[in-house]
Amino acid sequence: MSSDLGGEGQFMDLRGKAAFITGGASGIGLALAKRCAAEGMTILLADIEQGALLSAAQLLRGEGVKVFTYILDVGNLDQYREVANSVLSEHGAPHLLVNNAGVAWKAPASGATPEDWRWMVSVNVLGTGYGISLFVPAMIDSGQQGYVINTASITGLITSPGTSAVYSATKHAVLAVSETLAHELRPHGIHVSVLCPGSVATNITEADRNLPAEVERSAITAAAEEERAFTRSFVSNGIASDAVADQAFAALAERRFYVITHPEYREEIETRHRQIEAAIAGEPASDVGLLQFAKQMLNLQPLT
Ligand SMILES: NC(=O)c1ccc[n+]([C@@H]2O[C@H](COP(=O)([O-])OP(=O)(O)OC[C@H]3O[C@@H](n4cnc5c(N)ncnc54)[C@H](O)[C@@H]3O)[C@@H](O)[C@H]2O)c1
Repeated sequence: MSSDLGGEGQFMDLRGKAAFITGGASGIGLALAKRCAAEGMTILLADIEQGALLSAAQLLRGEGVKVFTYILDVGNLDQYREVANSVLSEHGAPHLLVNNAGVAWKAPASGATPEDWRWMVSVNVLGTGYGISLFVPAMIDSGQQGYVINTASITGLITSPGTSAVYSATKHAVLAVSETLAHELRPHGIHVSVLCPGSVATNITEADRNLPAEVERSAITAAAEEERAFTRSFVSNGIASDAVADQAFAALAERRFYVITHPEYREEIETRHRQIEAAIAGEPASDVGLLQFAKQMLNLQPLT
């Protein structure tokens, strides 16, 4: 059933309009594609994994949905330019742009290799930036209302010592660009929402299936595998990706910016903000809460 997503009193029928979704072959991206399909949208599905992409397209087509697929490494600018040019010439500016493709990999601040940095920044940050640069000007020029969804993470709002410093840095970057983009696009009638999920049951714990050859596999020690097993069980107990997609669409309908699917992280977010507020007020550092939190994260924090 399609819904009124116009917001601010305007009806906006998404039927027949195009959604371009990166990382659309699995997890949250695929769930968003299914949600777009339920609205009657045409799906432009992009992913680095050809097999998974074709299976996802087949699944959606089985529901009678119009789907076009694009093999794309979002961190590869030449390839992204080619895909964007063909999308724009064949379908025009997308109505909904979803910058969702992302990878998580164990990389503590003190132990990440330059290649760890390059891979995660390339997919999570440049992939998002390229998507914005290559599609948003055409969305503005179209003069139509539209939407952008960027997938950050709860680790865009808090940090996680010990495991995922680099991942967290990339998600802070996605959040920052989303906040500024939301302001820039408001006058053009384009609404931006940013997804900040905690654990969602997807294939993210196997993100290294797409690991580029130059990233050290030697980082996968027995201890790292043990940690991955913990992360895997944490993530597989996470919420369903369909629930994230439902919350994302509810946010679009209400024109909400932050999509916080895991309210249980409230205390961590507040603790961080209290430290900053105390510093602004020139109060003595009361970082007990933060240290306790850091300790807890060192022991428990999974990668996402
Ligand atoms: N699952 C979680 O717990 C969780 C929590 C917070 C945020 N996220 C974010 O959600 C987004 C989607 O991840 P997911 O959990 O659905 O994982 P997933 O692994 O199930 O899906 C990610 C998809 O992105 C694709 N991809 C990977 N590298 C790519 C590249 N270079 N170019 C294009 N596509 C690429 C993968 O092939 C896969 O289809 C990511 O940005 C991730 O950081 C996930």
